[in-house]
Amino acid sequence: MTATESAEGFVRACGLGELEEDTPHRVEVDGVPVSLVRTDGEVFAINDVCSHANVSLSEGEVENCQIECWLHGSTFDLRTGKPSGLPATRPVPVYPVKIVGDDVLVSVTQES
Ligand code: FES
Repeated sequence: MTATESAEGFVRACGLGELEEDTPHRVEVDGVPVSLVRTDGEVFAINDVCSHANVSLSEGEVENCQIECWLHGSTFDLRTGKPSGLPATRPVPVYPVKIVGDDVLVSVTQES
């Protein structure tokens, strides 16, 4: 276990200052592709792969706490990972986030 890894599996994903409001930021956490989104004063972590096809969600746009898949336009709730429109029907995993000082910590071992 490293200094930035906790018992619950939280690892440092990036610095808070690296996240621009409503602009997805792709990171890898323990080998898992994750899209981090800072919006409305909160940071959300959602798996970076659309549940409809192998497309990076971090290349899409964020609005109203939803991230849009650029390929076919399904949107996913950043809080729950649930799709709100076709063609995607399955949710995308979302992960718990902790902010410690300027560090954004994510745990991909626990889906929230
Ligand atoms: S690949 Fe994302 S909605 Fe089709």
